[in-house]
Amino acid sequence: MKVNDVKKIAIIGSGAMGHGIAQVCAQAGYPVMMRDIKKEFLDNAMAKVKESMAFLVGKGKMAQENMDKAMNNLKTTLGMKEATSDAQIVIEAVPEIMELKKSVFREISDLAQTDAILATNTSTMSISEIGSVVKNPQRFVGMHFFNPVNRMKLVEIIYGDKTNDEHADLLSEIAKKCDKIPVKVLKDRPGFIVNRINAPNQAFLSAILDEGRVKPQELDATMKKMGAKMAPFETADFVGLDVFCHTLEYYSRTLSPQYKPGKFLKEKLAKNELGMKSGKGIYEWKDGKAMIDVSKTSDDLTPIHLLAVQVNEAVKVWKEGLATSIQDIDDAVKFGMNAFAGPFTLAAGIQPQQLTDTLNTLYSRYKLEFLKPEPEIADGSFKTIGR
Ligand SMILES: NC(=O)c1ccc[n+]([C@@H]2O[C@H](COP(=O)([O-])OP(=O)(O)OC[C@H]3O[C@@H](n4cnc5c(N)ncnc54)[C@H](O)[C@@H]3O)[C@@H](O)[C@H]2O)c1
Repeated sequence: MKVNDVKKIAIIGSGAMGHGIAQVCAQAGYPVMMRDIKKEFLDNAMAKVKESMAFLVGKGKMAQENMDKAMNNLKTTLGMKEATSDAQIVIEAVPEIMELKKSVFREISDLAQTDAILATNTSTMSISEIGSVVKNPQRFVGMHFFNPVNRMKLVEIIYGDKTNDEHADLLSEIAKKCDKIPVKVLKDRPGFIVNRINAPNQAFLSAILDEGRVKPQELDATMKKMGAKMAPFETADFVGLDVFCHTLEYYSRTLSPQYKPGKFLKEKLAKNELGMKSGKGIYEWKDGKAMIDVSKTSDDLTPIHLLAVQVNEAVKVWKEGLATSIQDIDDAVKFGMNAFAGPFTLAAGIQPQQLTDTLNTLYSRYKLEFLKPEPEIADGSFKTIGR
């Protein structure tokens, strides 16, 4: 199949992600059919898409005529057959439950054309395992959009163990047409690229909270002084400490037991202090803002520590063969985390010795294996690998 053969895209699930994916596909000119299990969910999704486009029109970022065209491209249905039987691409965005995803894909596999490309937007599950239930699993691909879909540029295109290049390439083309930046993830590993590179820093933050030597607001204040729009502990509160812990639990099962959330976070959960959504987490929250005292910064832990941990993990990701190029790793982090630049670009001007010393100090202080510097950090070759 060629990109011009794509005449219809089906989106299964119209929640936080599904409606956003439907929107960007419709804006790209594709006829889109969204499927959900209740009419009210579909109505709600359509209202959100309309609101989002109207906002763009109001800001002068979209012509009214283009909004009208995009809205005309969007249809909804409760029928799986109506959604999928004549679609060339089916993108699933139902809740993150393995058995649900498998049963949805069994149904899709029976109803859709045998050469339709089937994609899952899972953020944590094995692409190969979900894809194992469909006929012709070589057409099964991970297509990981980031939240909010209408604003986040990155889409990870993930290979399952049977995915072939032709289908991954075609989905990359579709992502580009949707004004996104696709990055291929060549192996189906936990966290794919972006979340995997972020994982050690999440566990590191948990360790800082347990140690109690540096106060969260001191590290966050330092980050904000250096231009961060949202600092790390503030982000944890914003996302929700329950979600933060859930992610760490997942990595403790899939990467290493050392990722387990620490005592501080567990106590917060027990007290239902979950961050922004409960009004209190690491910070008190008022009117959607964390009450952070930015006057006291920290010299003990600084952004260089977080960057060292991130580059170290990025080197592992490269060595494990997850990415096509170093540039792709940098793009994935930059556009998937709204960062100023990717880890290799940011670390280019830093002496290898400084990064090595930073990681060794962190390792001896926190005793976490994943903080140990990779040989390519110590010998400086991280600056040239893959290039
Ligand atoms: N929310 C995020 O930040 C985010 C980011 C990236 C990826 N993801 C992934 O995207 C997927 C969807 O997440 P979400 O946050 O949009 O979930 P959500 O709960 O907001 O939406 C899921 C939707 O799927 C619908 N659904 C359930 N069973 C269905 C079925 N059989 N057929 C059609 N629709 C069905 C639900 O009614 C709901 O409307 C998950 O795999 C999640 O891990 C989420």
